[in-house]
Amino acid sequence: MEKISGNKMIDQKTIIKNIPNALSTVTLPKSFGKKNQGKVRDYYVKKGKRIIITTDRQSAFDKILSLVPFKGQVLTGLSEFWFKKTKDIVPNHFISAPDPNVMIVKSCKIIPVEMVVRGYISGVTSTSIWTAYNNGERIIYGIKFPEGLKKNQKLKKPVITPTTKAETGHDERLTRDEIIKRKIVPKKLYTEMEKAALGLFARGEKICSRAGIILVDTKYEFGLYNGKLMLIDEIHTPDSSRFWIKKSYLSRFKNGLEPENFDKEFMRIWFKEHGYTGEGKIPKMPKEFIAKIAERYIGIYEKITGKKFKAENIKNIQKRIKNNLTALD
Ligand SMILES: Nc1ncnc2c1ncn2[C@@H]1O[C@H](COP(=O)(O)OP(=O)(O)O)[C@@H](O)[C@H]1O
Ligand SMILES: [Mg+2]
Repeated sequence: MEKISGNKMIDQKTIIKNIPNALSTVTLPKSFGKKNQGKVRDYYVKKGKRIIITTDRQSAFDKILSLVPFKGQVLTGLSEFWFKKTKDIVPNHFISAPDPNVMIVKSCKIIPVEMVVRGYISGVTSTSIWTAYNNGERIIYGIKFPEGLKKNQKLKKPVITPTTKAETGHDERLTRDEIIKRKIVPKKLYTEMEKAALGLFARGEKICSRAGIILVDTKYEFGLYNGKLMLIDEIHTPDSSRFWIKKSYLSRFKNGLEPENFDKEFMRIWFKEHGYTGEGKIPKMPKEFIAKIAERYIGIYEKITGKKFKAENIKNIQKRIKNNLTALD
């Protein structure tokens, strides 16, 4: 396949040039079955397998805000990296990646709980533990937190703060007891999910740490395949995780400064500064800013995997995907 970046870091000019080529959706021929869409992914289900196409759609505040070229390729590549690095902890859905934006996976019965694991007390949304703690709560998600914690402090050990996996609307806080009492997940299976989630997080922390990154918190989704627990969706990507830069964390924390983040917080800030927090007309991001987001995604990919990002030619990405998928049949 033709590469457009060779071995050097893809530059801003190349990214800007490729903004019009970014992937918004892929419509496959009828033989692939019905097209389904999440916020970021398009997927097709057939004979127990799922074709997951990760597009370049960028979401925040639960809305699609723009397209970011190469984002889908980064998310697919990173997830593949992590699926391979963690399959000894819990089996996952990954079968193959026939195209840089596509994964073929085992289609599972989704378990309707999102397993959020947090190593630090942080966040600004209604489901984050800092928001609750700062409002005076000390038992959050059924977990007891000590007095005197500061924003962005490392927790003694990582905690699981589960939420509902809502089809529409926002995620809601759950506790372990509720999940079991309301029979959302049977106790034995939930215990297995907890063990897997903490094991995955520990592995993630270790590999990120070697790359100079703190894995702050992340979200896992699980499913059942032939009755067996399976990690599904994506793992340790900038869309599902918060990353901080390790080198400056401690000195900034001690001085009461926010950590240098490596995730999409700066994008949320831009939207807030332009008067948007999820309602009304979506402000249009300047090209340079979109390029900055793309560069960030690529930077995280390179840091974590230790590999150069080889940007695929995306001039006609729809066609490329169709060709790669048809070649499989
Ligand atoms: N192996 C799998 N089996 C069944 N469902 C899956 C699997 N992997 C991912 N999913 C689901 O496919 C969808 C992927 O689309 P995405 O754009 O990530 O959706 P969302 O807007 O919910 O984040 C999600 O609903 C996710 O739970
Ligand atoms: Mg998702």
